[in-house]
Amino acid sequence: MSVREEFDRWATEGRDKGMEERHWNTAKEALARMPVEAGDVVLDLGCGSGYAGRALRETYDAGAVYGLDGSPAMARNAASYTADDRVGYVVGEFGSLPFADEAVDHVWSMEAFYYATDPEETLAEVARILRPGGTFYCAVNFYEENHHSHGWEENVSIDMTRWSHREYREAFRAAGLSVAEQGTIPDREVEVPPASAFPADGWESREAMVERYREFGTLLTVGVAP
Ligand SMILES: C[S@@+](CC[C@H](N)C(=O)[O-])C[C@H]1O[C@@H](n2cnc3c(N)ncnc32)[C@H](O)[C@@H]1O
Repeated sequence: MSVREEFDRWATEGRDKGMEERHWNTAKEALARMPVEAGDVVLDLGCGSGYAGRALRETYDAGAVYGLDGSPAMARNAASYTADDRVGYVVGEFGSLPFADEAVDHVWSMEAFYYATDPEETLAEVARILRPGGTFYCAVNFYEENHHSHGWEENVSIDMTRWSHREYREAFRAAGLSVAEQGTIPDREVEVPPASAFPADGWESREAMVERYREFGTLLTVGVAP
């Protein structure tokens, strides 16, 4: 199944909003660290419901925010959630970004990068469109050290790239981005039921759920264009 088919289905089932809710707890911490200034142009790669771009517009007064997604239904849903004419949603592919060289100040991506057909090509594209000193904030919950995420590929029909912390750093550097920061952001807000409630919701034990959310959380890698 293609990205378009898979995520169009998710969007029409309303799962774009479900993802937003699940991702917001850690996404908001990473978004708050972005050095976006008033007037900056920001791209949200694999925007889903588009919540991140709208938050950046509201909190930093970004000049223009674009959400790019390979699923037309996702982009349509995202556009329907805002009347802000400085926020736009486009259908596109990670491997061929519809932006001129050095046209974008900052790129954001949450839980999307690892779906790239060719992640090195996507990083090269990000490096190409970033202006000197621009940043790429890349956040993922699916990564090698997070063993709780290893089975996720079975639920999705698209190939996924499961890199470790080190592999993210190496790939960023190979694309010409310096790694300014890397680390995990724990989700301290997700509700963890008492031990007596387990097994529940796909979790065998409370300890496993605590490890997944409170200890592993979201891996954030920040790249800076030279
Ligand atoms: C798991 S969702 C995450 C959405 C949103 N960033 C969030 O935090 O909720 C991944 C999104 O990336 C998009 N996507 C995946 N692979 C893509 C590709 N190669 N090119 C463009 N978009 C892609 C999907 O259509 C989907 O909307």
